[in-house]
Amino acid sequence: MAKVKIEDLGEEFAWGSRVSGVNLENLEDVDLREELAQLLKDRGLIVFQDLEPSSELQVAISTVFGPLKDHPTKSTARADTDLAEGVIEIDYGGQHAAADTDHGLVGHNGKKLISFLPWHFDHTYNDELNYAGVLRPMIIAPEMGRTGYADGIEIWNRLPADLKARIEDKAVLYTLDVRLTQMPFGRYFETYGDLPHMAGNVEESKSFPRAIHPMVWTRPDGQKVAHYCGFSAVGLENHEDPEGNALFEEALQEMYKVITPYWHDWKLTDMLIWDNSRVLHSVEGCDPKYPRRVHRTTIRGDYGLGRFEHGKKIGEVMREGVAPLALPEGVA
Ligand SMILES: [Fe+2]
Repeated sequence: MAKVKIEDLGEEFAWGSRVSGVNLENLEDVDLREELAQLLKDRGLIVFQDLEPSSELQVAISTVFGPLKDHPTKSTARADTDLAEGVIEIDYGGQHAAADTDHGLVGHNGKKLISFLPWHFDHTYNDELNYAGVLRPMIIAPEMGRTGYADGIEIWNRLPADLKARIEDKAVLYTLDVRLTQMPFGRYFETYGDLPHMAGNVEESKSFPRAIHPMVWTRPDGQKVAHYCGFSAVGLENHEDPEGNALFEEALQEMYKVITPYWHDWKLTDMLIWDNSRVLHSVEGCDPKYPRRVHRTTIRGDYGLGRFEHGKKIGEVMREGVAPLALPEGVA
């Protein structure tokens, strides 16, 4: 049986791990599965390296960490394989160059980029989070296109004490309208119009209640996690006023000051999993002339602290055939 090697992500990080040597055969070992599941709980992120690139292995590794959460829409592309239940395919770029428009591009560090995304956690706009996201690259841009990760425990530990005291009991309102052109807090980029396919979610967001998540939460192991983002946020619960807006903006700017991300430069033999209730992520973007494709699986499991405004439950707000959880899932 191939030997599995587990290392720290890097000496500059107190979180994250690298694992190599995993294959379909050794994944049947119950002890290894338990060790890997615990590793994600402890370290927040695992980079699997030197894998045989296959959907079968992606699904097999994903299920080590919990049941898969299938995508709720029929319109989202599934990976073209019969082993890909729960695997979705996300395409960016490429076609954009032919469209001859800047719409949907983002300006950052003097470049116009496709598929840029600011720091966020997934499913902000929903009351229920997913435990973990899993990414495997299929087409890699020849330059840029990295995904950034940052540990919420580390962020919390580095925030100024006076700010911590002011945000510890606060919660953030998030909307389904995730257009970057409309993002009011924590901007550090320019926008050049919206992608046309965003219109459906904008319409849906008008009747979809806002979701609320705490800015800070405490894990079962007692560690506190800074867990907030500007992406899809519209303000602080019960503080949609100048004072609350200023506090939220301050909290975001302080987060950007203390964040020390791990930027993952993809290889086709990589797969990466992160704990969505702890680790924030960001997409660097790339030149719109380059195609980029990833396969994504999502692990079910909620931290249980999200809710909708006015005490609504998801069953009350979902309509048959409409799945507002769809679009931002593609933001990997
Ligand atoms: Fe994301």
